[in-house]
Amino acid sequence: MAPSRRPRFFLPFLSLLILLPGAEAQKPWTEGEQLDFLRRHWARPIPLQGNPPARWSPVEASLLPESCGTCHPAQLADWKGSLHAKSMGPGVKGQLVELLASDTESALGCYTCHAPLGEQQEKIAGGQGGFLRNAAFDARLQATGLACPACHVRGHRRFGPPKRDGSLASEPPRERLPHNGVTRTPAFLRAEFCKDCHQFSPDGFALNGKLLENTYAEWTSSPFARAGIQCQDCHMPGRRHLWRGIHDAEMVRSGVGVAFSIDRASYAVGDTLEARLTVTSRKVGHYFPTYVTPRVVVSGELVDRSGRVVAGSRQEQIIGREVTLDLARELFDTRLAPGESVTLRYRQRLSSAGLRLRVAVTVHPDHFYVGFFEALLAAGAGKGTPQVREALRAARSSSFTLYVNEVPLT
Ligand code: HEC
Ligand code: HEC
Ligand code: HEC
Ligand code: HEC
Ligand code: HEC
Repeated sequence: MAPSRRPRFFLPFLSLLILLPGAEAQKPWTEGEQLDFLRRHWARPIPLQGNPPARWSPVEASLLPESCGTCHPAQLADWKGSLHAKSMGPGVKGQLVELLASDTESALGCYTCHAPLGEQQEKIAGGQGGFLRNAAFDARLQATGLACPACHVRGHRRFGPPKRDGSLASEPPRERLPHNGVTRTPAFLRAEFCKDCHQFSPDGFALNGKLLENTYAEWTSSPFARAGIQCQDCHMPGRRHLWRGIHDAEMVRSGVGVAFSIDRASYAVGDTLEARLTVTSRKVGHYFPTYVTPRVVVSGELVDRSGRVVAGSRQEQIIGREVTLDLARELFDTRLAPGESVTLRYRQRLSSAGLRLRVAVTVHPDHFYVGFFEALLAAGAGKGTPQVREALRAARSSSFTLYVNEVPLT
């Protein structure tokens, strides 16, 4: 049976490494060895782990994040709140129900980033371009999405970063440690560790000559890469497992500056006011935002005494890469490269007294998905309908105000 072919190949290789504990874990890693490690580490689907060593306890042998969390509670608590833990959420699951049956190859393609372990996938490639039921499939593990073992476990061996002092070896001999200790490699500290899921390959899907996912390449040409600042330095500070991004207001504020100025302290009816609202990308290691899905709106409007927006007074500038729902065309791309800014120049004649100017920066992290899920439901999401509805609700409610300022004018 095909599912057992890979582990059978993998296990002899594994036992060879177990015969050489310590030695292989202690030598320093050259850059080439680190990149080689990552190439093997991120070959997907991740080969089935095979049988755990016989003397392991059930909790050591388990791949479930809750099991890792019995001994690594801090990482479990962080991860649970992260989007990596939600990567098999309703938006993905709702599409996969039908896709698995209608277009298995594309569905398995989604798993390469959203649930990459062999054990997380219902089917595996086999035969003449066909697909077979996967005997090792574990639905509970699939629901955990991008969890601990995808990044840390291969063939039941644990891999991790060097200790915080930079050393690679453990004090006690590995065979006396839980899960036979760990192989430490600086590859975990490199941006390349994140690349396979956050960067399409050069021949991947592109629009208007630009890849749809290009985060690593954007980082490579940024001043942060030149200064040696990796994805982990911004997204896993203190080795925290939170991976905060555009869905988190505090994270966005940490990378983006907003400045407001107005040409006078007060105005008379009939005057024309001029104000500026500038958004600058200061500490974002790639485009702000990097994906085609978010939208950031920089806006200005007049508000009257009763709090109503004065008709025709709203002006806005959009930061984002807008593509059509069918991904056939790019409509515009106004994302900010590191260091760049955009300024809304607000100019308006004041036609009555008691007006205020309201300027704001609003972030819609799931802008594209709102339209996409609506279209999917309209076209018919089949068995995935309840999940896609839930995903639409979540996408609609993820927007937040990054900055707002209301200034009395007269
Ligand atoms: C029974 C307790 C236990 C369980 C369960 C467990 N670990 Fe560990 N883990 C440890 C201990 C103890 C160490 C420290 C080993 C050392 O000092 O070398 C460790 C080290 C690690 C490291 C290296 C961290 C460091 O200190 O350098 C990683 C990564 C890791 N474990 C991942 C996992 C993952 C992923 C799981 C679940 C699939 C898991 N562990 C399950 C006890 C456990
Ligand atoms: C195996 C694939 C994979 C790897 C490796 C991976 N990610 Fe992710 N990442 C994803 C997926 C899939 C999502 C989206 C989850 C969802 O919302 O469904 C995501 C989401 C994120 C987000 C949240 C984005 C947002 O919209 O706010 C950040 C930040 C992030 N990843 C950073 C990283 C960093 C840094 C690394 C390297 C340490 C990394 N990722 C490694 C697949 C991966
Ligand atoms: C190359 C890696 C990769 C592949 C392949 C991939 N995704 Fe994603 N996906 C991501 C990342 C990274 C994010 C988070 C960034 C974002 O918000 O767009 C994401 C976000 C999403 C989201 C929005 C977040 C959520 O959980 O609702 C959905 C829905 C989604 N992907 C569905 C799919 C489907 C369906 C497929 C297969 C047709 C697929 N993805 C293939 C990397 C990938
Ligand atoms: C998307 C990949 C990814 C996932 C998922 C992930 N980790 Fe990690 N983990 C990393 C990276 C990368 C580092 C090193 C980060 C750094 O040094 O900046 C790390 C570091 C660690 C460390 C060492 C921490 C220290 O203080 O030295 C432990 C232990 C660990 N992870 C356990 C876990 C556990 C347990 C889970 C699941 C609850 C988990 N990880 C999920 C990528 C991941
Ligand atoms: C200098 C700090 C910094 C570095 C380096 C960095 N990021 Fe980010 N990243 C941010 C900030 C701040 C945000 C929130 C604003 C935004 O969404 O652009 C963010 C957002 C994201 C998002 C959310 C999705 C989106 O459309 O913006 C993802 C995914 C992400 N980063 C992945 C990565 C990956 C992968 C790397 C490495 C190749 C990386 N980041 C390097 C600071 C950084």
